[in-house]
Amino acid sequence: MVSIVFGRFIRAVVCVASFASFATVASEGARLQTAPINSHDVASLQNGAKLFINYCLNCHTASYMRYNRLQDLELTEAQIKDNLIFTGVKVGELMQVGMDRKDAKAWFGVAPPDLTVTARARSSGAGTGSDWIFSYLRSFYRDPSRPTGWNNLVYPNVGMPHVLWQLSGQAQLHEEVFESEHAARAALIATKGVAQLEEGHEIKDGKTVERFVLKTLTPGNGALSHVEYDKAVTDIVNYMTYMAEPARLERRRVGFYVLMLLGLLLVLVYALKKSYWKNIH
Ligand code: HEC
Repeated sequence: MVSIVFGRFIRAVVCVASFASFATVASEGARLQTAPINSHDVASLQNGAKLFINYCLNCHTASYMRYNRLQDLELTEAQIKDNLIFTGVKVGELMQVGMDRKDAKAWFGVAPPDLTVTARARSSGAGTGSDWIFSYLRSFYRDPSRPTGWNNLVYPNVGMPHVLWQLSGQAQLHEEVFESEHAARAALIATKGVAQLEEGHEIKDGKTVERFVLKTLTPGNGALSHVEYDKAVTDIVNYMTYMAEPARLERRRVGFYVLMLLGLLLVLVYALKKSYWKNIH
């Protein structure tokens, strides 16, 4: 009797243990890269705005952003009109798009979402929304099985084609298969850049065995060097981060004056205290 119960117990433990080791890895998303952005770098914000308007507004909107807000980035109204508006809209108008949403849905399977606040919306335990966009724009690779010819490590089976491919070149997916999770994790730590670890299975001698696949990208050659491409993407993400919360620049300016004022008050109050206590000491 005891041995039967014990036997059952062992079987239950083995069952739970094998199930547990099965479930963990498959749910992990791609490892993100930290976006090296700087909200004080006005030249980077200006370049990001230019790239964003040139390459992204063809399909996406930024409906909560008006062109004239770009004056925050130290651009004059004339500069905005002459260099950044190609569609004949007025400077006070919103960043809308010429593309019909129905057409877009038919072409890409899904309509391109509004990007005004994506830099905030995409934040998660894996990184900030800015890190997510930075990694996403550096993770496109060639995939002939997709309707657009492109796939993405951070956003698998994405509907968006790689619109910056002439700048970055065409990356290829590189898959390395490991038998042990330990070895796969060690290899993941040793790789630089965006990478994803996936759990898979293989039938070997009639038995199902676990396999761990490390997915990385082999970069191609584009008009920009890899460093220059990363810089361009950084500028776009810097701009999108500003766009998601344009009030942040202003809040910082206001915060500075508030601190100055408090400092001044401190000096005055201290002088007052001195004068009150003068006769008592
Ligand atoms: C040719 C049209 C097109 C262009 C140009 C384009 N996109 Fe997209 N984008 C899409 C589509 C379609 C999706 C939706 C993909 C999906 O959900 O599968 C998308 C999705 C995205 C997403 C994911 C949003 C989310 O939270 O799900 C981001 C971020 C993004 N695009 C950024 C950009 C940036 C930055 C540019 C400019 C460098 C750009 N896109 C240019 C079509 C485009």
